[in-house]
Amino acid sequence: MDLKTRVVYNGQSFTKLGVSARNRVQFEGLIQHRRSSHSTKTSAAHKTIFSGIQPTGVPHLGNYLGALREWVQLQNGATEGTKLLFSVVDLHALTVPQDAPWLRNCKKEMFATLLAVGLDPARSAIFYQSDVSAHTELFWILSTVASMGYLSRMTQWKSKLQLPENTNLEDSAARAKLRLGLFSYPVLQAADILVHRATHVPVGEDQRQHLEFSRNTANSFNHLYGSIFPLPEALISPAKRVMSFKEPTLKMSKSHPDERSRILLSDTPEDIHRKIKGALTDSEPQLKYDPDNRPGVSNLIEILAHFEGKSCEEVVSEFQHSSLGALKGHVASRIANHLQPIRERYIALIENKTGYLEDVANQGSQVARSNAERTMKQVKEALGL
Ligand code: TRP
Repeated sequence: MDLKTRVVYNGQSFTKLGVSARNRVQFEGLIQHRRSSHSTKTSAAHKTIFSGIQPTGVPHLGNYLGALREWVQLQNGATEGTKLLFSVVDLHALTVPQDAPWLRNCKKEMFATLLAVGLDPARSAIFYQSDVSAHTELFWILSTVASMGYLSRMTQWKSKLQLPENTNLEDSAARAKLRLGLFSYPVLQAADILVHRATHVPVGEDQRQHLEFSRNTANSFNHLYGSIFPLPEALISPAKRVMSFKEPTLKMSKSHPDERSRILLSDTPEDIHRKIKGALTDSEPQLKYDPDNRPGVSNLIEILAHFEGKSCEEVVSEFQHSSLGALKGHVASRIANHLQPIRERYIALIENKTGYLEDVANQGSQVARSNAERTMKQVKEALGL
């Protein structure tokens, strides 16, 4: 392997293949260490951090504050022995119909953004889910222990099909629309996590239910076949709610028809100022953090609090004597300044023609594959396969 191939752009140089060679050495070091240690406690002390994100193209501010920023912080603060794996979960995207060229493009945009926000391929394995077939293999195995009752009570398949929350499988509309893949989405997610023996899973608040399901499924498997999977712990981001700028009672989302309802990580400073300026608020005179009654202005306060590392109360008292316009201007500048270097790196990566992104993905999937294979070996042995 050529350790010296480097790609240089935007003033930064990235090791092209050597990056992951180093990563692999680190992983293999860990594997060696585990093999040679007599107590399973020693290996259990190592953390494995895994998370996944759907290939929705360039992510929005809610994705960033709710997940990606946390991933980068965990990566940068991780101790030497911690394994880090982050995946663009393209198989999960198939639970709703996809257009192939569109999906291909969205995958690439998401992948480039993961690097642009600061995930470092020298430290983290960054890969496409569909490149590591152990995810789907374990999915099948877990589906033999996953509870139908539990799955039917979960909320995502209902919201995706726009069915009421109390819908169950007896419902004829549900039976007509529901596909097995959408229903079993949480089983594939459990497989993503468990195949890497993840101990910690940084996610947004909306994934709490899926993490609980993963723990439940791991538990069922361990109970039947022996303790193979650590029970993964959810690390929920403190940024729980970044709301739409146009309908602040709804979460910021890529599916909202109005593009001014969200900020994308690739937005220009002008875009950001325009969108914040047009954010729906109310006409009450006094600034107040009150998400239930004043969702629009509370959203801006909360976003600013996240960027400045302050509490909402602190932000409110700081801006008490300012106009709403001044607050908006400050929020917009703060976001624009923070996103500027991310946007620049993103453009350099997406326009790069040297195959750098593909190389990073290949190397990431090699690391992920070897980590997952170790689990599958144990799983198959436990099952008698
Ligand atoms: N369901 C997650 C979401 O929509 C994405 C996801 C898939 C995931 N597999 C995962 C997140 C494993 C964490 C761990 O955001």
